[in-house]
Amino acid sequence: MSATLFTGIGELATCEPTLGDGSALGLVHDAAVIAEDGRVAWVGRASDAPAADERVDLGGRAVVPGFVDSHTHLVFAGERSAEFEARMAGEPYTGGGIMTTVAATRAASEGELRANASRLLAEMHRSGTTTVEIKSGYGLDVATERRILEVASELTPETTFLGAHVVPAEYAEDREAYLKLVTGEMLAACAPFARWVDVFCETGAFDEAESIRVLAAGIAAGLLPRVHGNQLGYGPGVQLAVEFDAASVDHCTYLSEEDLDALVYSDTVATLLPAAEFSTRSFYADARALIDAGITVALATDCNPGSAFVTSMPLVIALAVREYRMTPAEALVAATRGGAAALRRTDIGRLAPGCSADFAVLDAPSHVHLAYRPGAPVVAQTWHAGTVLIASGHVEE
Ligand code: NIG
Ligand code: FE
Repeated sequence: MSATLFTGIGELATCEPTLGDGSALGLVHDAAVIAEDGRVAWVGRASDAPAADERVDLGGRAVVPGFVDSHTHLVFAGERSAEFEARMAGEPYTGGGIMTTVAATRAASEGELRANASRLLAEMHRSGTTTVEIKSGYGLDVATERRILEVASELTPETTFLGAHVVPAEYAEDREAYLKLVTGEMLAACAPFARWVDVFCETGAFDEAESIRVLAAGIAAGLLPRVHGNQLGYGPGVQLAVEFDAASVDHCTYLSEEDLDALVYSDTVATLLPAAEFSTRSFYADARALIDAGITVALATDCNPGSAFVTSMPLVIALAVREYRMTPAEALVAATRGGAAALRRTDIGRLAPGCSADFAVLDAPSHVHLAYRPGAPVVAQTWHAGTVLIASGHVEE
């Protein structure tokens, strides 16, 4: 395959601190990137760039790594706008609407699920996302959980079995039977299509002992753990995630001092989902406490029809800057390199030699515009493995 030189990059955020200006963003001005065989082959000042077979001039725009959206529930049917409307009128979010989506998802064909998820994935590509994690959890029976993960695995290698999302209504009187199903027959049917196992460890979903059973069974089936925790209240989710060396604990809206201490001495990433807090009118996680303690933070959309029907990582970055008081640089790192860490990946989320050539070209002179211009279509082009996915902006070749 031939080498392509991307030049005319006014500001390149590599998100690799050993490159460029040495900041966390690894900034290079008047930069160029060479992509070869889908990977970054060279990064530096345009004036130092070696020759390549092809040349793409990005016209002075800013370039950032493709966003790594490490937490989504993209495969589902139906929508819950009435629930959202009621919430905006004062109803609290409890997660009770999950069963509405489960009913719609069970009734949908595989083709309908694929079409819906593909449409949402296309929205994500348009806003600069190049890697997406997708969870099951809206089937809650063996056949539908498996169908969801089959569709998800067509769209991404980062698939997560979340059969332990809630106990479905038909098992309300016999939780033990559902636990046996999730850790037995359902897990066996789903594990071939999943990389990760997740559990919603929360009052009203699964308690600590149940969550331990779910994670342990998933690990025994060859899956890697991650946890939904501390979304609706304080609880054991964060500490459980750390004990299991989970790649990530997600939400972290309610964090105790003990939770912070546990995360500091762990390899577990705290994944923050400000779009869920925005769309449920929750208060916002204490991102500053996490960052100031040196804990690795990721930002993700949590895209789902209930708590956050959001596909845009630029919106998530804008919320993180406005509501979490993260700097634009911290938010960009969390949305790229942080997401990669939450998936235990080093080949994505930064633009350094050897990494996948995944990047977003901004119709803007700097990465700050991701937060500065909320709602504007700031991403002009999205490139994945050196190939253009979306190009609404002009590309000179
Ligand atoms: O991450 N917390 C649990 N699950 C989803 C919401 C699911 C729903 O409301 O449909 C979340 O917010
Ligand atoms: Fe979620």
